[in-house]
Amino acid sequence: MKGTMLRSVQASLRRGPNASSSPSSFRLLCRDYSSESAPNRKVAVLGAAGGIGQPLALLMKLNPLVSNLALYDIAGTPGVAADVGHINTRSQVAGYMGEDQLAQALEGSDVVIIPAGVPRKPGMTRDDLFNINAGIVKSLCTAIAKYCPNALVNMISNPVNSTVPIAAEIFKKAGTYDEKKLFGVTTLDVVRAKTFYAGKANVPVAGVNVPVVGGHAGITILPLFSQATPEANNLSDEDIKALTKRTQDGGTEVVEAKAGKGSATLSMAYAGAIFADACLKGLNGVPDVVECSFVQSSITELPFFASKVKLGKNGVEEIMGLGLLSDYEKQGLESLKPELKASIEKGIKYANQS
Ligand code: NAD
Ligand code: LMR
Repeated sequence: MKGTMLRSVQASLRRGPNASSSPSSFRLLCRDYSSESAPNRKVAVLGAAGGIGQPLALLMKLNPLVSNLALYDIAGTPGVAADVGHINTRSQVAGYMGEDQLAQALEGSDVVIIPAGVPRKPGMTRDDLFNINAGIVKSLCTAIAKYCPNALVNMISNPVNSTVPIAAEIFKKAGTYDEKKLFGVTTLDVVRAKTFYAGKANVPVAGVNVPVVGGHAGITILPLFSQATPEANNLSDEDIKALTKRTQDGGTEVVEAKAGKGSATLSMAYAGAIFADACLKGLNGVPDVVECSFVQSSITELPFFASKVKLGKNGVEEIMGLGLLSDYEKQGLESLKPELKASIEKGIKYANQS
């Protein structure tokens, strides 16, 4: 990759989709945190040989905040690690394959990203993945509790609305649970909402922000277009409804287009890299790092909820409120609660029964 292209990818990762840093803090960030003098940070990707795992490994290798990149999967990681490891960026890359190498992959990790598990095929819901992915997440989280209990965990594996509660219960059982360190990655919903909004409102996408709250499945995904910036006066109620539906169905749109060959991988790798980068910035003490994420929360009556979250040196620093909602969004919020509650309870029950 040519130097200019690499720098532009790195700059995009540094800015992130919320681009919450001001230009001056962005310059400061580049000087203080993007060079080899940034603190050493180990990132482990579990499921690193998969459709998401491989491009995510690439993007994390391009991230100057990473000093060690551990690529773990049940198969295929030696090849991915050898390939990615030849890229002339800061981090040292190591591949780990099979359960007997999981401890080594995890030890010393600051951030663990989990895209391990099966993806949907057309006609399936994310909940249809529960039976297989719940077991995978459970065993990986048991190992995280043992080998890197202080790491920030970025859960990508679906159904996120259940896998995050499963992880929380596993950590509680192990006595390592810290609600500030467990995140369901919902960044792809934000990425999609921004793309679709910018297209419809005909505004440059780089400056667009749209919070997405709730959960990560169908109607539980609630984009708050009333809070989108820049404000667009050219969108009708019908446009907002269509944008909301497209964001909620974004995953299905990709699953259908891939016609049996999996779900979103490239856009998810991008979104996962943005969220991991925000976690690393928070750990490094960069101020005002804000992303939406599905976390333990008390902003509604549900125990887990996605909303804007400020990231800091210990993970979640502040869970931000929902802000003012339109009537349409208020309705969406009430409609999503029963489904999200059931998915959360399903995860909790599974973790405590199995
Ligand atoms: P994939 O099948 O291409 O890759 C999954 C990888 O996980 C495979 O390499 C597999 O070997 C590995 N794996 C399976 N069991 C494992 C274990 N016990 N330990 C370590 N690795 C293991 O699937 P994908 O397209 O990369 O999707 C992965 C998951 O991410 C799916 O559950 C999918 O639904 C989810 N996903 C979530 C989002 C989101 O927004 N949160 C977006 C896209 C996909
Ligand atoms: C997505 O939103 O793309 C993922 O959750 C994958 C899926 O199954 O839709």
